Amino acid sequence: MIRQCDEGKFEIIHSIINDAAQAYKRVIPVDCWKEPYMSKDELRHEMDEGVVFWGYEEDGELVGVMGFQHIQDVTLIRHAYVRTTRRNQVIGEKLLSFLREQTTRPILIGTWADAAWAIRFYERHNFRLVPSEEKDRLLRKYWSIPERQVETSVVLADQEWFDSH
Ligand SMILES: CC(C)(COP(=O)(O)OP(=O)(O)OC[C@H]1O[C@@H](n2cnc3c(N)ncnc32)[C@H](O)[C@@H]1OP(=O)(O)O)[C@@H](O)C(=O)NCCC(=O)NCCS
Repeated sequence: MIRQCDEGKFEIIHSIINDAAQAYKRVIPVDCWKEPYMSKDELRHEMDEGVVFWGYEEDGELVGVMGFQHIQDVTLIRHAYVRTTRRNQVIGEKLLSFLREQTTRPILIGTWADAAWAIRFYERHNFRLVPSEEKDRLLRKYWSIPERQVETSVVLADQEWFDSH
């Protein structure tokens, strides 16, 4: 079952993010890795900035989350994480399909350039990498992330975004 996460899910969202983000360890540049990957303060900040989390629940237990942020003329998919033990069981696919139906705006997704599996996951769902010069502009326009993360990230966009550019 997919539903919007309420405030009561804060701790479990935080736990899922930091469990799933272990995938980045020793993959993304060392200076971009920290533990925990996302602090509670950072998560709180993201929510205060308008990231709304949707969760996939099984037997009443949250096992995957995906954030959604409407910003200016686009929708960003932020912080997509499925519990490590539940990976590759189509939970990410279900969350992504569900969220795509919730917006009529073009969708953009940012991820680490070194997270090859994540890029492949989105490409398999018809998102395409935005050319390098353009992705820096987009990351600065729609995301609030450090310049080092801009350098080391890529942006994927859906067909609607490409059609309008
Ligand atoms: C990326 C992520 C959110 C995808 O969620 P997921 O639930 O694992 O995704 P799915 O099961 O829908 O699909 C993942 C892969 O499993 C494969 N798969 C799907 N169903 C499967 C099954 N029943 N058995 C085995 N493999 C399966 C898919 O082919 C897919 O392969 P791909 O890498 O070629 O796309 C999740 O793996 C994750 O949290 N990763 C770590 C953090 C991360 O990278 N987040 C993205 C940052 S934006």
